[in-house]
Amino acid sequence: MTEKKTVIYRDATPETIETLGKLLRDGGLVAIPTETVYGLGANGLDSEAMSRIYEAKGRPSDNPLILHVPDMAAAKPLVKSLTPTAQRLMERFWPGPLTITLPKADCVPDRATGGLPRVALRCPDHDLCRAVLTAAGVPVAAPSANISGRPSPTTADAVYDDIKGRIDAILDAGTCDIGVESTVVECGDDEVTILRPGGITEQMLLEVVSKVNYDTALSSPTAVPKAPGMKYKHYAPDAPMITFVGTPEQVANAIRQEDDFTEVGLFISEETAKLLQVSPDNERCLVFGKAGDAKALAHALYSGLLHFNGTKVPRILAEGVSEAGLGRAVMNRMLKASARHVVKL
Ligand code: TXA
Ligand code: MG
Repeated sequence: MTEKKTVIYRDATPETIETLGKLLRDGGLVAIPTETVYGLGANGLDSEAMSRIYEAKGRPSDNPLILHVPDMAAAKPLVKSLTPTAQRLMERFWPGPLTITLPKADCVPDRATGGLPRVALRCPDHDLCRAVLTAAGVPVAAPSANISGRPSPTTADAVYDDIKGRIDAILDAGTCDIGVESTVVECGDDEVTILRPGGITEQMLLEVVSKVNYDTALSSPTAVPKAPGMKYKHYAPDAPMITFVGTPEQVANAIRQEDDFTEVGLFISEETAKLLQVSPDNERCLVFGKAGDAKALAHALYSGLLHFNGTKVPRILAEGVSEAGLGRAVMNRMLKASARHVVKL
């Protein structure tokens, strides 16, 4: 791969938006902010441009891409038919962190779907992102903007640190609000199947459809997932990690019992830090917020994991949350980041 000069745009002027839109349309690779994580964008109708995404990320070629659109009208030509259920989902949750798979139209290249008959569509809840998508005038394929297997980036600097030299540009719009990726659903007739949990929860989906199923692979390590990306190693920090789930007292006790606990990285709640009498501003100890706060943990998770990559800690001991609401998405990511080493206390 020839080394590229990666330009970071820190100021989203109308000229910058036009420049990045054109760069995308013409086959370039541009990292764009969204409300979940930064995405690595390329023209979603241009197979060669999308091949460059796979090359830049070292992404397995059977793992399909999400096409990002600025609105529902731009989604319509990409699917065989916009079913009434899909329309209801889009009207209720777009723009927002819900990715919907539907049978693809012929204009969508196989490169976007990894040869699958369905295409995944998403409209991000991020004004600057949608402005770039509008300026591009084409659907933008965008996986998370990290080297495959590593934690997803929630800041422009995290994108730069991970894939500089492999992409053309990055639009810096600060820290992503949510911090974990969108919910991916396969859209059926008045029902959906969650392939990847995310910012839109089962309870929210039940406002719109009668039934919400979960892909069996989410609870069985041996089943083959319907979202090909879910079978790969993901979100892994450099150091091995163990995640404990329980009350702050239980988590603090479990951490104290690890004999190297004064040398490892701690990624814990305020309450647990207090019980362990560790200072939260020490580079070895990151506090995500209050115990059980899934939203705060989602927001801090990937930047926390990346922080420890910059330290020499031999292990990371982390605190999880219950799987209610957004907690389901957070724990799905922590299970992978910990290579399934999650201990329920
Ligand atoms: O929040 C997000 O969704 C972020 C931002 C950048 O939009 N994007 C993201 O993309 O997380 P990526 O590529 O890292 O994850 C996409 C997931 C993968 O697990 C992939 O296998 C699945 O969606 N996927 C994509 N197209 C699919 C399809 N046609 N059928 C089933 N799963 C699909
Ligand atoms: Mg990803």
